[in-house]
Parts: sequence; C-alpha cells; structure tokens
Amino acid sequence: MSSYDVIVIGSGPGGYVAAIRCAQLGLKTACVEGRETLGGTCLNVGCIPSKALLHATHMLHEAEHNFAEMGLKGKSPSVDWKQMLSYKQSTIDTNTKGIEFLFKKNKIDWLKGWGSVPEAGKVKVGDEVHEAKNIILASGSEPATLPGIEVDEKIIVTSTGALELGKVPRSMVVIGAGVIGLELGSVYARLGAEVTVIEYLDAITPGMDPEVQKTFQRMLKKQGLNFVMGAAVQKAEAAKTKAKVSYKLRKDDSEHEVEADVVLVATGRKPYTEGLGLDKLGIEMTKRGQIAVNDHWETSVKGIYAIGDVIEGPMLAHKAEDEGMAAAEVIAGKHGHVNYGVIPGVIYTHPEVANVGETEATLKEAGRAYKVGKFSFMGNARAKAVFAGDGFVKILADKETDRILGCHIIGPGAGDLIHEVCVAMEFGASAQDLAMTCHAHPTYSEAVREAALACGAGAIHM
Ligand code: NAI
Repeated sequence: MSSYDVIVIGSGPGGYVAAIRCAQLGLKTACVEGRETLGGTCLNVGCIPSKALLHATHMLHEAEHNFAEMGLKGKSPSVDWKQMLSYKQSTIDTNTKGIEFLFKKNKIDWLKGWGSVPEAGKVKVGDEVHEAKNIILASGSEPATLPGIEVDEKIIVTSTGALELGKVPRSMVVIGAGVIGLELGSVYARLGAEVTVIEYLDAITPGMDPEVQKTFQRMLKKQGLNFVMGAAVQKAEAAKTKAKVSYKLRKDDSEHEVEADVVLVATGRKPYTEGLGLDKLGIEMTKRGQIAVNDHWETSVKGIYAIGDVIEGPMLAHKAEDEGMAAAEVIAGKHGHVNYGVIPGVIYTHPEVANVGETEATLKEAGRAYKVGKFSFMGNARAKAVFAGDGFVKILADKETDRILGCHIIGPGAGDLIHEVCVAMEFGASAQDLAMTCHAHPTYSEAVREAALACGAGAIHM
C-alpha cells in the first residue's frame, strides 16, 4: 500500500492539471487513470482529435473554394481518410505522451486502472488500496444519449465513434445543434457528406447570443449543412448499413423519418461517476446527478474534492483546469479561486464562434442597463483579405460605468480574440480602456477594438 497527500481520480484536463499543481505545491501526488493513455476524453476522444479533423477539412475547404481566386490553380486535393485518421492519431499521441512526460517531471505516480473510493482516505485501484489524505474526483463525463436510441459506435455514434468512422459517410444525421453536433457536422459536410442537423429548439447553440445564433446558422447553411429545427427526435434504428431517424415537429406534432449512413447523437453529456462508490460514501449529489461541492470544491465528505464535468457548470476543459488548480491550492492551504463570470466558450467551426460573460438575455433578465458596441469583420482589412469578412464582434458594457460585461464574436480567430476581452474583464476594464489600447494593424483584433469604440464615440471603419 502506498500513501499520498493527494490522489486524483481521472487524468483529463481537470485531473492532470490538478495533479501537476499539487506536485508543484510540494504534495506527494498520484493520479488514477484506467485508459491506456493519459488526457481523458479531451485529449483522446474529444477536443484534440476533433481539432485535427477540423483543421484538415478546413484546409480542404479552402483548397476547393478559395485557392483558385488567389491564383492557386490545379486539382483540388482528394481525401485519403486513412491518412487523415492517422494524422489525427498522431496529434493525440504527441499530446498524451506530453502529459506522461509532465507526470514524470513532476514525480506524479500514474496508478493504472479504474479507481474507486471504498472509504474516505482510501483509493482502490485493481486489487490495491492506497492511502490518500486528500482525494480529488475528476472522472469527467460521458455522452447522454436519448431513450429509444442504441449507440453501436458504427452506424449510430456518439462523438467517440464519429472520430473513428471506417469511411466518410455519404449522409449523416446529427441529433442536436450544440457544440459537438456542429463541429463534427462541419467536418463531415466538408468531406462531402450530406449532413442534416435535427434540433429540438428553434435556434442552434442554446444559450448563445441570438444574433450570433442566426449568423452562425446562415453561414453553416451556406457551407451545406441542412437544418430541421423545432424537432424532437424520438427514435433512431440501425439496420445493416443505414439508420432511420424518427422525429416529431413541435409546431404541428407531425411525424417524419429520415435515413442516413451514420447518425451522430450529440444531445449533451452527463457526469461520469459510475464505479466510484459515491453511494456508499454518502456523497451528496445535485438533482442533475452532479457531485455537490462547496466553494472550495470539497464534497459533503471531508477530504474528498470534485472538479470538472462531474460538478456543476459548463462542461469545458478549461473550466475543469481552473478548478483543478484551485482545488490543489486549497488542499495546499492556499486560496484557490475561479472566476466563473469569465469563462470563455469557443466553437471551433469555420468561422469560429466565441463568447464570454453576459448575454443580452441575461442582462435583460437581471434588469441591468447596458450598451452594445458592434463591429462587422467587413470593416476589417485583414479579414477581407482572407475571405473572412462575414461575422462580427459584439461587446456589451454597463450603460453607466462602461465596464465590459460580455463579448460575443463570430469570425476569424474568434477563439483567440475572445481572450483580450477575458483579460480586460478580469481587470474590471471599461470599453474605453480597450478602445484606447493600441492594436496592431492589420490584425483581426482591430475588430475587437472597433467594437469597444462602438460602445463610446463610435467605430472608425464603419
Ligand atoms: P449541447 O448541450 O451543447 O447541445 C445538445 C443539443 O441537443 C441541444 O441544442 C438540445 O436542444 C438538443 N437536443 C436534445 N435532445 C434532443 C432531441 N430529442 N431531439 C433533437 N434535439 C435534441 O451538447 P453537445 O453538443 O453534445 O456537447 C456536450 C458538452 O460538451 C457541452 O457541454 C459542450 O459545451 C461540451 N463540448 C465543448 C466543446 C467546445 O468547447 N468546443 C466541444 C465539444 C463538446
């Protein structure tokens, strides 16, 4: 039996970051992981592999649509799917090996196997029981499928199967117009599949700024994605080579069916806590099946903490990372902190979509007076030069104080641009602070400055 200051269960972005921070703070640390490789869903079957496929297929899209205009003539590249998957795998491998290296560097023991907590202060991995003064539960999440749908990861797939298809399907039905559905739907649409997205609500990407939602859906339609909105999927059945999806339109209850080679179920994820032994420990759960924690990420059982997708909040790798660092600091007797008001969200389609902070809807609901500064990428020289003039930056600021309250971007590099607004918000900046900061020309970031200017005396290039 080994004895540790901290044992982290799960090596996803929440768990491995927590483990590294614990070790850096001088705590003897181990991390339990049952997969063959470290990195959890994000590195193995989520964020990272999907970005590789998004990148490769975006290159293809550029070659097919924009090369000729730039004077790059010749045959468009053809798709070698096996090679694309192996490129995707190599991206995963370098990243998962990177975590292994960081574990060694920080002297973190990788306890290989699936962990459970038989009692406070103990973690069981296989037949071995280890002692731990503190335990961090970071076991992540799993796809939440629908009743009436049996996933086989070949014809009816979750994001995991969608990253490993045997061949590019001719047709694909995506259930759910959330982040996963739209990112992976884009990948297969660019590869030539006829993609139909079926969404229960009347707008895509729930919770996002309505103007962004509309612009985003228009752009995706232009890229070839078909949408069936306001439709509740009730059943999907796989036959030998195809699947049939049944849905009901909410407006008139009419029933419809659609067939496709592959069906991607992207209707959300749920906390993965199976096998941890939480029932026996008496750990309090929320009504939505998440592990309940206090504002120090400690569960109802002393010495057991939980972070990431297993607790409340957006299921985002970077939110889990921040919680991992903060929980480690709390355990080490420091003051861990996460600012939940400044957690960016990014959709890595083309163009990217990013947001942080309040939306107009949340501000209206709270009865707060705000102003809007908006700037179109059509007024940004750099964006126009690379066929990326569609989209905009929208900054929301307090009407009285001018303090930045939120930002919504759809356009080139949105996922990177959003961070200057995050930093500004962390420092409590006003829109004028951002507007008075010199931005290099010609960059996409000038559109952020222009949106900030539009909160005051007005944007220049509009
Ligand atoms: P999601 O919650 O973002 O979207 C699910 C969609 O499915 C919703 O729009 C919902 O209305 C719809 N839906 C549910 N039941 C339905 C039915 N019966 N018929 C039709 N539509 C139905 O979930 P998603 O995309 O699966 O993502 C899961 C989690 O993973 C999210 O929390 C997301 O933030 C995270 N994620 C984040 C990424 C990123 O940050 N880029 C990438 C991938 C996942």
